[in-house]
Formats: sequence, structure tokens, C-alpha cells
Amino acid sequence: MRLRILGTAAGGGLPQWNCACPGCARARAAGPRAWRTQECLAVSVSPGAWYLVNASPDVRTQILAAPGLAPPDGTRHTPLRGVLLTDGELDHTTGLLALREGAALDLYAPPAVLAALDGPFPLRTLLAPYGSARWHALRSGPGEDALLLDGGRLRVTPVPVSDKRPRYAAGSDAPGPWAVAYRFDDVATGAAALYAPSLARWPDGLDAALAGVSCLILDGTFWSEDEMDRATGGRGSGARTMGHLPVDGPEGTLVRLRGRSGVRCFYTHLNNTNPLADPSSAERAVLAGTPVEVPSDGTEIEL
Ligand code: MLT
Ligand code: MN
Ligand code: ZN
Repeated sequence: MRLRILGTAAGGGLPQWNCACPGCARARAAGPRAWRTQECLAVSVSPGAWYLVNASPDVRTQILAAPGLAPPDGTRHTPLRGVLLTDGELDHTTGLLALREGAALDLYAPPAVLAALDGPFPLRTLLAPYGSARWHALRSGPGEDALLLDGGRLRVTPVPVSDKRPRYAAGSDAPGPWAVAYRFDDVATGAAALYAPSLARWPDGLDAALAGVSCLILDGTFWSEDEMDRATGGRGSGARTMGHLPVDGPEGTLVRLRGRSGVRCFYTHLNNTNPLADPSSAERAVLAGTPVEVPSDGTEIEL
């Protein structure tokens, strides 16, 4: 199984266009090599067949930077087979508008997200005249079958994470889950990975879904619960209310990852306020001696 972490930043990216908080100012001064594009993953278990997880507004440059995602010479044929959405957030869905040039993609999302993309953010209606996107509802939870992609070789199991709605769908009463994680299994080799870029809490069922997984890519939006307020001088709602369990603290994600020897763990969806984005920060030094890494955009993992 090959995983390419195409983008590693939360909505807005790093630096964010309208922000000069310490993280954005550092990245701006350091130049494009220190920048991070908005979170997106590509996964493949056979040459020439890739699936995206989420489609960030940066998806075009992310695909151009990934040699394996280029069309073979002389063709107009993408190795991209489809896109799995973890949720309906704008930083995970608006990239679909940039993938409209006639590719026949299979698009998968939880039913609540499909309803939102038919209603308050009518992406499905907008895209319909442009190509041949095939939308599929992906149900999750006990009793639901896993999805088999790539001729049955890639098994995809959605794990319900939370009912956090995108702001544009705050009024929707569609039953959740509104956010899921995905477990990927290479049926041929037994390799397994889990991708969970939006974790409002550590959900029931996540530990069970981690059995046998050797790569874990998790929500690393915020180092601490009140980081946004401290960086921006605001009095907002805190990391968890924004749908992101922080890294640090007794209920943060790091305590759950520390003991996982033999598992490669990565943080993604870093907000521009997160000191982990700075390789020389004290917070980054805390990760030394743990199985957790902070990947750059374009990091490839082979399992
Ligand atoms: C999130 O990750 O919580 C959302 O992407 C926030 C947003 O709408 O930018
Ligand atoms: Mn986001
Ligand atoms: Zn900033």
C-alpha cells in the first residue's frame, strides 16, 4: 500500500492569506518550502490506481507535485479513480470543483454529507453538467459492509467519528455521522492504515478499528485546547468545540499514541497556530521518542 500525504494544513493553509500570527509570519518569512497546503491524502494498492481522501482547494497543485498521479504519456487518462470524503467541510470538498474536466470519478461520502452537498452547498448540482461524477452513499457502523475498491483489492471501512456539521449546514437535521475516519486494508498484502483528519473526540470503535494497523494519520489541528484564542487574541470556542481534539493534555491524542511501538503515526490538518508546524519548536521536541511524526506535504509512506 502506498500513501502520499498531499497536504497537511487545516483550512486556510500555512501561511493563511490574511494572517500574521507567529506561525504564519514564520512560514511567510521562511518561504514556500515551509508552507503547507490544505489536508488531502492519496492511497493506492496497485500501480496506476489512486484514490483521494478529501479534495482540498489546493488539489490541483498537489496532484501536479505527485508523479504517480500524472496521466501516462500521451493520454488524457488520470490514474485517479475516485475520492472519499471524510466530511463535508469546505476545505475537504471545494477541490472537487477543480476536478471537473471530464474525468469519470467515483465519489464516496456519508449520507449526511451527500444531503448537504445536495442542499446548503449544492456541489452535486453544480458539477452535474461538467462530467460524469458518480456519487455513492457510504454507510458506516455495525452491520455495514466495507467498501471494496480497485477490483476488490482495497477494502475501505468508514469509522463514525462525530456529528459536527460544517457551518454552512448548521441547520441540517440529517442524521449523522457527519464525519468519519477511513481504515484501508490491502487485501493482497494485509497492510492496513487509518486516516482520521477530523477527530472531535476519541470515538467508540476507533481502538477496535486500529487493530493491525501499521500507519495512523490523525487530526493534529491544534496543539492545545485554547491555542486559537491565544494566537489571535479572540475568545472563541476551543479546539474540541471546533471539532478537533488537541494533541496535548490528559485527553489529547498524544497520550493515546505514545505507546504504539511499531506503528508509524503522523499528524495532519495542522492549523497555522499549531507550534508543531515549526520544526524548531519546543512542542516538536516533545514528539522525539514517541512514534509520532509531523509530515511535510508530499510525504510518501509504503506499507
Ligand atoms: C474544520 O476543520 O473545522 C473546518 O474546516 C473549519 C472551516 O470551515 O474552515
Ligand atoms: Mn478543516
Ligand atoms: Zn496564522
